[in-house]
Amino acid sequence: MLIVIPRLLDDSALARAQALLDSASFGDGRVTAGMLAASVKQNLQLPSDAPQTRALQALIGAALEASVDFVSAALPRRVHPALINRYLPGMAFGAHVDNAIRFDDMPLRADLAATLFLNAPEHYDGGALAIDDSYGARTVKGNAGDLVLYPASSIHAVQPITRGRRDVAVLWVQSLVREAGQRRALYELDCAIRSLRERAPKSPEILSLTGVYHNLLRAAAEL
Ligand code: NI
Repeated sequence: MLIVIPRLLDDSALARAQALLDSASFGDGRVTAGMLAASVKQNLQLPSDAPQTRALQALIGAALEASVDFVSAALPRRVHPALINRYLPGMAFGAHVDNAIRFDDMPLRADLAATLFLNAPEHYDGGALAIDDSYGARTVKGNAGDLVLYPASSIHAVQPITRGRRDVAVLWVQSLVREAGQRRALYELDCAIRSLRERAPKSPEILSLTGVYHNLLRAAAEL
């Protein structure tokens, strides 16, 4: 399942993120790639110890926590701090799969991958994110501030940039619910309950459905 969460970053968060990007010095992106990915990864990346990296990670982490849609879709157990990548003309990230386990302060099982677009699609040509999962092939070029969430198990690529500059944050999520089909069913049930709550807030079935949701989550969750 591929989900686009529009405007994860609002205008003020996006302006702060872009100011941080403008003041940062990028290095080679291959430092964090696995062996297979390193052979196809051509991009720039903010060093993990740069103050701008830490500030962007905090800003993005706060936006993720505040997003009802992200929490509902990902059911995050832990989120790997974002890597901040820049693509300039001639750069690309060929077809690859992400490592199953990411190592930060402790190992994280990558169930979901996410790309947060930090600048507008009009600012570059090429650079679409191409994702091939069990639902078929899709390409995405989000608006500035949009988050794309997709299975970390999928084969994916960043198509070559031919003009301008593409700035993104990429991150991984270990979910409370490991199995993608269960996660999807819970997400769809939660979306239906939220929609019902808006349209018929006094409906007594909401309480019953909310109970069902939590009982299913209780059965599926790994802590
Ligand atoms: Ni990847």
